Parts: sequence; C-alpha cells; structure tokens
Amino acid sequence: MELMIFETPAAVADEGARRIRHLLHARPDAVLGLATGSTPLTMYERLVRDCRQKRISFAAVTTFNLDEYVGLDGDHPQSYRHYMNEHFFSKIDIDLANTHLPVAAAGANPLRIGAEYETKIAAAGGIDLQVLGIGRNGHIGFNEPTSSLGSRTRVKTLTRETLASNRRFFPAHGKQAELAITMGIATIMEARKVLLLATGEEKAAAVEQLIEGPVSAMWPATTLQYHGNVTVLLDAAAASRLKNRDYYDWVQQQQQKLVQQFDAD
Ligand code: PGA
Repeated sequence: MELMIFETPAAVADEGARRIRHLLHARPDAVLGLATGSTPLTMYERLVRDCRQKRISFAAVTTFNLDEYVGLDGDHPQSYRHYMNEHFFSKIDIDLANTHLPVAAAGANPLRIGAEYETKIAAAGGIDLQVLGIGRNGHIGFNEPTSSLGSRTRVKTLTRETLASNRRFFPAHGKQAELAITMGIATIMEARKVLLLATGEEKAAAVEQLIEGPVSAMWPATTLQYHGNVTVLLDAAAASRLKNRDYYDWVQQQQQKLVQQFDAD
C-alpha cells in the first residue's frame, strides 16, 4: 500500500486530482470508479478547474459510482445521482450517458440491479481507478462491518451509525433512505488501481485499522491490504493514530526522491 500523509485536506485533494489527471493523460478513455460523501468534494472541484482550463478532458471517460440509495430517483436531492450531477458531471465535459450509478428508482426491483451493474462494469472493460472514502466504521462504499469480503454489488442495510452520520444530508424532518445498493468488496478489489482519501480525526480509528490492523470483515477497508495497487492519501488528523508514522514519512521521502530522479510527472 502506498501511503502519503499531508498536513491539510486541501493537499490531499490536490494530490488526488493530480493522480486522476495523470491517468487521463495516459488514458483519455479511462473507466473511473467514483465516490460521494464530503471527502472527495474538493478533489472534484480541482478536477472541474482542470477541465475548464483544458488541462484534462472527460469527453471519453466512463464512470461507475460505488453506491446509491434504494428508492431515490435521480432528481431526488439526496440521491447520489443528484450529488454527482451537481458537484461534478454538470461542470465537466463528460457525456452523461457514460456515467453510471446502481440506481433502483422507486418501484424498481433493487435485488436485480446488482448483477446488471456488474455486467455493465465488465462490458466497459473493468475499472481503471476506483476513488474511495472510508467510513468511521471502516466501510468502503456501503459495505458495512461484517460484509462478506467476497461480496458483489447488492442491496445493503445501513448501520445505525452510518445512518446517523449521513443524517446531515437529509432535511430535518424528511424521511431518510435506509437501504443502499453498493458495489461489493470483491467488486472494488477488481479495480486495477484504488485511490482512497481520508481526512479528519473522526476517520483516524478506521485508518489505523486499514493500515496497521488485521484483515477483518469488522473493518471492511482492511481487505485492501490484499490489493496490489492501492494509494492512501491522508491528512495529519486522519493519520493521527498511526503507530509507525516515522517510517511512513521516511518511505514517502525515499519515494519522492526516486520519482524526481526517474519518473518526473
Ligand atoms: P464522507 O463519507 O466522505 O462523507 O466522510 C465517507 C464514507 O462514508 O465512505
């Protein structure tokens, strides 16, 4: 696992955007796996800026989001489709027809959507780079603790903790969606590259498990220890419980030297 620790969330966003720019320069028709939530917002802002400045184009890019609430149509303000359109897709040159979420709109059978979504991902050639956040409880996507490490895209019941944490996105007296469809852990593990961003002290315990804990379904993100190409970008607060911080900083310095010498971007 490649680990980079920055002082601020803004620096995490800068590095995340730089990684995606780098990929799109090498592969303009890349397939991106995308995440919602608070964490990637600044990174999306950076990419919008880059696109407006014509430094990158999403015209040939295909995207697959990690998850969506069951029963919310795309125009529902709390749907992840709405989030993606609002914060990202409407501001870049992507073709909306190439953007995908595992949507089970009101009335649709949510139990069917998972397999269909997996088929679409496979038909697009698989995911080149999957952007991830991490939940306080160590979830990735909506794969809550005790999710099977071999799970595929399916309906998940959200934990009370996740519901409480996401309550802020729903109106004070509005009904909150309690079920989601999420890529499974095995689906995420098939992405060719994973870019996980975590900022803030409330993520420190989950980050500690991700980097230094044993692999366990109780902390689903720990499965990424088995993935051969993961980059974790942290701010200092999210990294605050790591025991081997000195070593990680030392590795980062050595890595930077190597990149400057042999692989300048
Ligand atoms: P957040 O969510 O970015 O809003 O903290 C991350 C997650 O729950 O995966």
